[in-house]
Amino acid sequence: MTGAVRLNLPKGFRKLPIAERREALRAALKLSGEEINALRADRLELADVMIESAVGYLPVPFGIATGFLVDGESYDIPMAVEEPSVVAAATYAAGLISAAGGFSTWANDPVMTAQIFLEEVPDGREAEIFRRESELRAELETTLASMQARGGGYRDLSIQRLLESGIVRVHLHIDVRDVMGANILNTAAERARELLEEMSGGRALMCILSNDAGRRRAGASFRLPTARLARGSLTGEEAAGRIERASLLAQEDPSRAITHNKGVMNGISSLALATGNDTRGVEAAVHYWACRNGRYRGVTSFVSRNGFLEGSIEVPLALATVGGSVGLHPASALALRLLKNPDSPKLCRIAAALGLAQNFAALFALVTEGIQRGHMRHHSARLALAAGARDEEIRLLAERIAEGGIYNLESAANLLAKIREGRA
Ligand code: MEV
Repeated sequence: MTGAVRLNLPKGFRKLPIAERREALRAALKLSGEEINALRADRLELADVMIESAVGYLPVPFGIATGFLVDGESYDIPMAVEEPSVVAAATYAAGLISAAGGFSTWANDPVMTAQIFLEEVPDGREAEIFRRESELRAELETTLASMQARGGGYRDLSIQRLLESGIVRVHLHIDVRDVMGANILNTAAERARELLEEMSGGRALMCILSNDAGRRRAGASFRLPTARLARGSLTGEEAAGRIERASLLAQEDPSRAITHNKGVMNGISSLALATGNDTRGVEAAVHYWACRNGRYRGVTSFVSRNGFLEGSIEVPLALATVGGSVGLHPASALALRLLKNPDSPKLCRIAAALGLAQNFAALFALVTEGIQRGHMRHHSARLALAAGARDEEIRLLAERIAEGGIYNLESAANLLAKIREGRA
């Protein structure tokens, strides 16, 4: 064996107490005390119960997009995100839209799906499951009792024999109220397994929730007088027309639709993360929704008519306000408090408004001054920090960098020296 560099963590790492895991990591990477503390160590006992082999927290900036008027109520929206211009863009869009009456939103009941996949089901036996649905409902009674007490519970089922595999897929549709539903859906699916096997004469391959939240959708819309969109040499009417055409492009060209929807998710995923929700599940569902008709398309629409720009969005959103990791970390509890402790449908409505605002801000910038100027303005603050600016110097240097339009470390350091000498 050659002398390979050994940075590996010790065997049994996952079984060590969390403080020892941190120490093992520090030793393996030869980190200083300051360096290991880049992985935040407050509430370690919580990190330890949240995931296996935790060694701390990654500090993602937590910001607040302010000034949203949603269904006549004011909101400031918590966002956890690493990208510089996202919160600023949301606040900017919220200001324009809220001054013109704000967002109107809606949400469906939080109905989710548990899947049971049955193999070797004799032809035609699907009908037996439908016939005995009341037995299935009774079987799920205890599992879903507390959900039912809160107005949720079993709704209905659907059955399909999949074409390629011949597997019979049973969908149990369950109203999960304010939770995301993973635990309750998985438990319900496993509970129904044996009975479904007996009814169908088949054998269950697996039982799992579906992250397809197609029944749990939310939407938002707004109307903005086009006059408010006049920028530079563009009239408001022209800017609105350009936004409409940009949104049509995301219907036509999937490559553009991906970036367009990424802009929407800048808002939705940041809110999901801030509130401790499962960002991956939300994203998977939205992207499936975007291509439900066979072509990946933008999930928003903008129309310019009669002197108004009308924007709208409709997306599946399984955002919880209790259960799972939601509210477990105090930061997510704080985020929900900032939103006036909404129920799940309300949180989904706010998220839809935020996604729409974010997308509007991106399109407006793209079809007018372009995105890069705003981006670089935010980037300049990072550059200022990297160049050594501290405290009040950061804002000052960032301004000088943006004015000069040269975005490199050397020039930032020169400008900082000039500021310190009182020459800039
Ligand atoms: C950047 O995070 C998001 C945008 O690229 C979205 C878009 O192009 O619509 C600006």
